[in-house]
Amino acid sequence: MSALAGPLSSSIGKKAVMAVTGVVLFGFVVGHLLGNLQIFIPDHGAKLNAYAEFLHHNVGPLWIARLILLGAVFLHIGTAVALWLDNRAARPIPYGHKAWRKASYSSRTMMVSGPIIALFVLYHLSHLTWGATHPSFQPLDVYHNVVAGFSSTPAALAYIAAMLLLGSHLAHGLWSMCQTVGLNHPRYTPWLRALSVLVGWGLALGNISIPLAVMAGVIRS
Ligand code: HEM
Repeated sequence: MSALAGPLSSSIGKKAVMAVTGVVLFGFVVGHLLGNLQIFIPDHGAKLNAYAEFLHHNVGPLWIARLILLGAVFLHIGTAVALWLDNRAARPIPYGHKAWRKASYSSRTMMVSGPIIALFVLYHLSHLTWGATHPSFQPLDVYHNVVAGFSSTPAALAYIAAMLLLGSHLAHGLWSMCQTVGLNHPRYTPWLRALSVLVGWGLALGNISIPLAVMAGVIRS
């Protein structure tokens, strides 16, 4: 705990924690999407299900990855709240200042999209991992679970809505991270900003393609 107290007491320390935990979560989102895109292989889920079975049978590495992920989630959320409280405490009196309004707009959207994404992950786990909110959950039959799960239009639309927020969150978050690690140069800044938007929205659209493909009947049981 005391080892964390030092870096977490300064604003730059908190931003570094946000960047490092953000990279861990970003890495998970990329890996998870690549794994899930195997649903488009026209083999009725054979590769996707074999991949899920492989992950589940490697219990040790699976739990190490889960604990790292969980730690990153708690640190990311806790530090975001601490930064938000710091910003509120330091709010300048002149409300109309343009630079402040701009910065606060993006941080405000992060503080809306972030909690909704966290709620989405809880719903998502209850839907496709635990099966509690799934109509016909079959352990380890990921193909069936995804196709049957997204055959419910409200569930598919909830995923699509959450993924739109994820796109916005990642686009802002990746750009913030570039600034935290000092990737700020007059020549590269516009490109880095564009790349953050492209990668963030690319990941969101990649995820959205799955419920959309089920709704369109491109992927079916
Ligand atoms: C349409 C998009 C998505 C699909 C189809 C999908 C599908 C799945 C499936 C089938 C599982 C269960 C895998 C298994 O038990 O082997 C799972 C687990 C999980 N998903 Fe997703 N997912 C999507 C998007 C996301 C996003 C955007 C996030 C995070 C922001 C996420 C976070 C997780 C987590 C944390 C788990 C639990 C992993 C574990 O077992 O430790 N998923 N997902």
